[in-house]
Amino acid sequence: MAELKHASKKYGALTVYDGIDLVIERGQKIALVGPNGAGKSTMMKLIAGVEKLTGGDRVIGDKVRMGYFAQDLAESLDYEKTVIQELSGSASALTTPQIRGLLGAMLFSGDDVDKRVAVLSGGERARLALAKVLAQRNNCLLLDEPTNNLDIVAKDSLLEALRRFPGTVLIVSHDRFVLNELATEVIEVGRGQAVRYLGNYDRYLEKKAALEQQSSGVTSHKDGSRSATDRDRIGSAANEHRERAGGNHRARDGADAGRRHERAAKRREQIEAEIEKKEAERASLAEQMNDPNFYLARNDADELIARYEKLGCDVERLYADLVKSEESAAG
Ligand SMILES: Nc1ncnc2c1ncn2[C@@H]1O[C@H](COP(=O)(O)OP(=O)(O)OP(=O)(O)O)[C@@H](O)[C@H]1O
Ligand SMILES: [Mg+2]
Repeated sequence: MAELKHASKKYGALTVYDGIDLVIERGQKIALVGPNGAGKSTMMKLIAGVEKLTGGDRVIGDKVRMGYFAQDLAESLDYEKTVIQELSGSASALTTPQIRGLLGAMLFSGDDVDKRVAVLSGGERARLALAKVLAQRNNCLLLDEPTNNLDIVAKDSLLEALRRFPGTVLIVSHDRFVLNELATEVIEVGRGQAVRYLGNYDRYLEKKAALEQQSSGVTSHKDGSRSATDRDRIGSAANEHRERAGGNHRARDGADAGRRHERAAKRREQIEAEIEKKEAERASLAEQMNDPNFYLARNDADELIARYEKLGCDVERLYADLVKSEESAAG
């Protein structure tokens, strides 16, 4: 559905891509990774047609409708319009309740939707620009760092929306949890090339580590992130939280730490139970909010959205507590 053939891209003397071939099929969910300056954004722009190739061809299927998101898109919003006006303008296919639902998912609720774009924060503008891309009838989404201005609740709703989305998604994100839960393939760019790996982000890291070991011939112990097969929702989210917090502590099983350990384990159990409870309530609210008649049939819609958001904050705080409790157990 989209193909780059022997594609090259140069900016002056700088060669970002040097004759790469890439085929993207319908429905694929691909994470684009690579170090800073490797060419991720350039790749997005080349596929989107925002930037032109300097060599080779770009072939796009007839039926492909691409939606391209990058942070700087926020600058092209109409500052005079209100949030809801700005979104409605590019969401002709959506009903008003659907538009409000989408805004709710991007954390605009209640009076927020009547704010003028001019008074929004940078993060709010980025969220609105993202909502605009999601509102269009696209079947291929090119999302360059869409998670940057999202908190954990909004990330969750974006992730859910993208998982349900039957079309193609190509995404650049620093959020490992999102990449792992969404992507079934990883394309690593850099040094003029684009290399493809099957599997999610953790699988990619594993394969990379194995390749590096092979090539260096060293059997060094890889420290750091947790097992790639850790699919437990709470575990993963807590890990992510730990990474964000910059912490990298692990519980040590020292003999003298036994009692502290036990206490912390109990506390963790409590926190996890609380997280589960809150997430269940949040999921049930989300289900109600997904009902197209939600906003028409209920006059407590705003309250429910507020409750939904509050639960999200609570859950985030609980994850932070969970990490703290693990860290204190580690001493
Ligand atoms: N318009 C441009 N003119 C000149 N050089 C550019 C231009 N856009 C990008 N580059 C250069 O091309 C290289 C790839 O940039 P790109 O923005 O694609 O990287 P990236 O992988 O998205 O990086 P990051 O992780 O920092 O977003 C960089 O060296 C960058 O400086
Ligand atoms: Mg970039």
